[in-house]
Amino acid sequence: MTPEVLQSLPKAELHVHIEGTLEPEMMLALAQRNGVALPYADINEVRSAYAFSNLQDFLDLYYAGMAVLQTPQDYYDLTQAYLDRARADGVRHCEIFFDPQGHTERGVELAVVMEGIKGAITDAADLTAYLIPNVLRHLPEVNALAMYEDLAPFRDEFVGLGLDSSEVGHPPSKFQTVFARARADGLKCVAHAGEEGPPEYVWEALQLLQVDRIDHGNRALEDAELVTKLARDGTALTVCPLSNLKLCVVDTLANHPVRAMLDAGLNATLNSDDPAYFGGYINDNILQVAQAAPLSDNDIITLLGNSISASFLPDADKTALLDALSTSASL
Ligand code: HPA
Ligand code: ZN
Repeated sequence: MTPEVLQSLPKAELHVHIEGTLEPEMMLALAQRNGVALPYADINEVRSAYAFSNLQDFLDLYYAGMAVLQTPQDYYDLTQAYLDRARADGVRHCEIFFDPQGHTERGVELAVVMEGIKGAITDAADLTAYLIPNVLRHLPEVNALAMYEDLAPFRDEFVGLGLDSSEVGHPPSKFQTVFARARADGLKCVAHAGEEGPPEYVWEALQLLQVDRIDHGNRALEDAELVTKLARDGTALTVCPLSNLKLCVVDTLANHPVRAMLDAGLNATLNSDDPAYFGGYINDNILQVAQAAPLSDNDIITLLGNSISASFLPDADKTALLDALSTSASL
């Protein structure tokens, strides 16, 4: 499939961290605007720091980079830039993660974060965006519960609750109370699981947190019983090929599990995760893994349809986007 054809196909992005869309140019510009010192002299130094051996290597720079985000305008600019980039890739709907604790822990009020992000979403034409706050799993559950309380005044601004950050050693079982609360409040639930962590973490996310989707889920393939369950239940996996490559979850895209996931009947979707850090937005992810895996044009269309169906949009909106996809795909 050519980049032009892929761009013309309606799609949804379900796994993108807004803080992970902070391009080096904007990081340096915001550092200057806000008088924040960074350990980089220029863009080249930033880019050359982006060589990661694992998830934690990346997270250390990702949390450090966030320090430049301070005012509503900063969050607005960040979100607007992502939405413009996503629109250029034919994204018609996105579900954007953010890490409230990554901001409040360094003294930025949640109201500042919400005002900027929400403002850009409200002003965006031609695509819709939902927000999903994530719990930082390397912190204790009491911190997650406090974050959840802080979010109460903004309850209408987000659709779900997620779980991210350092996976190994921080299983989903650590966060049962906060996720039970979110479910009781009618929120959708998602969790990063099986990125670096074992298949047991995917089981826990499903059974203890009762998540609606699994973020990543690569290591689910190690457990045949789990694969059977995921296929039977149609549980969506939000898979991120370039992230997996840059964080050494896979050694090459030719060994990326999306091919095996489709062959096993799993409901996979393709996403960018932290595109400013991993070298590509959604269409780069799709085109590069399609070439390596390999994926046919029909596989790509299946994956795009999965992204729309697995979104948290109302059914009527999903149907309209799926119709638009099949019309565009048959042109
Ligand atoms: N995994 C876990 N935490 C994260 C990620 C990820 O890929 N991106 C941002 N926070
Ligand atoms: Zn992620």
